[in-house]
Amino acid sequence: MNIGIDTLSLYVPRYYLDLGHLAAARQVPADKYRRGLGQEQMAVPPPDEDIITMAATAGLAALRGSDRSTLDRVILATESGVDQSKAGALYLHRLLELPARCQAFEVKQACCGSTVALQLALDHVRLHPTRRVLVVAADIARYELGSPGEPTQGAGAAAFVVSARPRLLACDAPTGSYTEDVMDFWRPPYRDTALVDGKFSVKMYLTALQESYQDYLAAGGVPVAQLARCCYHLPFTRMAEKAHAHLTGTAIEGDALTAIAAGMSYNRLIGNSYTASLYISLAAMLESTSEDLSGQRVGLFAYGSGCMGLFRSATVVPGYQEVLQTERHRQLLWERQPLTVADYQRFYATQLPTDGSTLSWARHATGPFRLAGITGHQRQYERVAVAEKAAPALPVPPVAAHAPVAALVSVG
Ligand code: HMG
Repeated sequence: MNIGIDTLSLYVPRYYLDLGHLAAARQVPADKYRRGLGQEQMAVPPPDEDIITMAATAGLAALRGSDRSTLDRVILATESGVDQSKAGALYLHRLLELPARCQAFEVKQACCGSTVALQLALDHVRLHPTRRVLVVAADIARYELGSPGEPTQGAGAAAFVVSARPRLLACDAPTGSYTEDVMDFWRPPYRDTALVDGKFSVKMYLTALQESYQDYLAAGGVPVAQLARCCYHLPFTRMAEKAHAHLTGTAIEGDALTAIAAGMSYNRLIGNSYTASLYISLAAMLESTSEDLSGQRVGLFAYGSGCMGLFRSATVVPGYQEVLQTERHRQLLWERQPLTVADYQRFYATQLPTDGSTLSWARHATGPFRLAGITGHQRQYERVAVAEKAAPALPVPPVAAHAPVAALVSVG
């Protein structure tokens, strides 16, 4: 039985900061961010956007036109949870008008929580082949202002429906994993920014990649040379170059560059979105590759600090192009509003009160859901009208890590 990803939808905040401006403000050469990290821009959520509003918008698009009564579960993967007890998926359950018999819960293991959720969804559909599961990954990556992690911030959501007879990707059975208790990146409940041992985290990412790939091979997986494309968790896009070079033992040029380039194109403009990052990369790869990938195998590597690595592969389903939301995603990327560094720092500094008092946010640009404010310690979400515009002919985002934003090309 083929089980896998049937639809894949993204959402990114309507504001971004150009990293050239951040580099100037932090007195760092812009090339350190652009070439050294492979990042051009980072998505910045306004005060009235949180992981729930982003997740609901992506989830709504993933469910568009489909029968909600066949959904058994909505699973939210996040490490930016809005409650220590109640699952954020319950807000989604209401905002997406899901049936009462559909379960809602949250999973966490840093950035690989979404891939754990995918595995849970695959196992559920294997047991109940007529049923479907909605997985939504949403995160806001926050580091201290002025820290080495600051240019790797970002935010976004990815939602996918897992079903039997999927129209996008059929997941292969072999999976590989690697787990070890380490302190490379973590965030205690009393902090809203991550603590990180940056260089160590990169080292652990590569260790988890190598070990989980070996485990995947031992389980019957195919060698990386037989994977037409590889998508990696992308804390910053140069990480894919480091990862793919580590795995293949080759320089990132020719076929090796083709295998990863398209998958970096959206993340380069969004930054790290933790749990959503790998699935944003997957969408970018499928949507920015002009070659027909039908029947080809792709590799997917998820890394969650702390740490766990998961390696798996999937086969692209013939006709997948019909299901892609390419125009919607390009519109989301190209119609964002630029921020100055001062505006970004103003958004960054906003906080909800923690004493139970009432606060209403001014309305900023958001998707169809917004966080209106808080009252009595309860977040207030509301649905807002967002004009549906006809998609203009939008350019493909730049694909190569060193390409300037203006270099608008498609890759084979
Ligand atoms: P840093 O100390 O600012 O950067 O931290 P650096 O000095 O190592 O420079 C970065 C690269 O830029 C280097 O290239 C420099 O040579 C280059 P590399 O040696 O890596 O090839 N560079 C330049 N290039 C061109 N022109 C220049 C120039 N100057 C320097 N002028 C670090 C970098 C990634 C450590 C930092 O940003 C950080 O701490 N980030 C947060 C942690 C992180 O992203 N870790 C990644 C792996 S862990 C992970 O992915 C999990 C995570 O998503 C969380 C989760 O699982 O929940 C983070």
